[in-house]
Amino acid sequence: MQTVKVHAPAKLNLTLDVLGRREDGYHDLRMVMQSVQLGDTMTLEPGKGESIRVKSNLGFLPTDGRNLAAAAALTFWKEQGIEPYPLDITLEKVTPVCAGLGGGSSDAAAVLRAMNEIHGTGLSLERLAVIGQKVGSDVPYCVLGCTALAEGKGEVLTRLPPLPKCWVVLCKPDFSVSTPALFAQIDSVRLRRRPDTEGVLKALKEGDLPSVARRLYNVFEDALPERCAAKVDQVKHVLIQQGALGAAMSGTGSAVFGLFEREEEAQSAYEELRALYPETFLTQTV
Ligand code: C5P
Repeated sequence: MQTVKVHAPAKLNLTLDVLGRREDGYHDLRMVMQSVQLGDTMTLEPGKGESIRVKSNLGFLPTDGRNLAAAAALTFWKEQGIEPYPLDITLEKVTPVCAGLGGGSSDAAAVLRAMNEIHGTGLSLERLAVIGQKVGSDVPYCVLGCTALAEGKGEVLTRLPPLPKCWVVLCKPDFSVSTPALFAQIDSVRLRRRPDTEGVLKALKEGDLPSVARRLYNVFEDALPERCAAKVDQVKHVLIQQGALGAAMSGTGSAVFGLFEREEEAQSAYEELRALYPETFLTQTV
């Protein structure tokens, strides 16, 4: 087996709408997704241990099948009828964890792409996305990447015209949210507003960045505990004041992002927010 190095880009939810609770306990979603250049790097190589191991620069991440990167390799082998073998995955984590940026899902997607290469299986991205569904709801989108509409649990994907390239400032305030808890909470709150998904789709077709940015919206912001919502609003306020065309929380949070046309404005927003919260990043869309 050759050593393979892959990049796992973080994702943003340009919009996130929860349509309702399903019989299987999951929720039907409608989300416009976008990948950014910021992301993790992973190296897959023949294992020195007895099974699969994940080593990372973050000591608290699981090293076995509870890590989505390992879960993806195990699922790929099972689906393809390949006998598991010792494999070492070295994960250089850059994307903040528990942030709504799809870090773990993107790692899983990158492992699926790497496995496809290592085994010369030649599976299409669509087929890899179907395998990814078994690992997590955001994995299918992460296999596809770029700009896409995700529906159903997140596995019904439609490619969209790419978001015009722009600067992105990402900031994770100092709290984390449990995804299942926030999904449970959303069932009991009255949503103030819903995202204008159709408007975003039209703006993407027209290549109109300001019009997309004006419509960034995530219904989970309405389901946050008050103390957390205040921090999200504070970050959004700084982003907008510094010239962001729009800002929203990503996924179930707590990361908040703003889209910028001009690098200097993005740079000042980055500097102001980094002084408040260390997990702040300046990047660009893919
Ligand atoms: O699929 P995944 O393991 O990433 O989902 C994590 C949790 O998020 C689920 O256990 C569920 O509580 C919630 N979820 C949901 N509806 C979705 C996706 C996730 O309720 N479409």
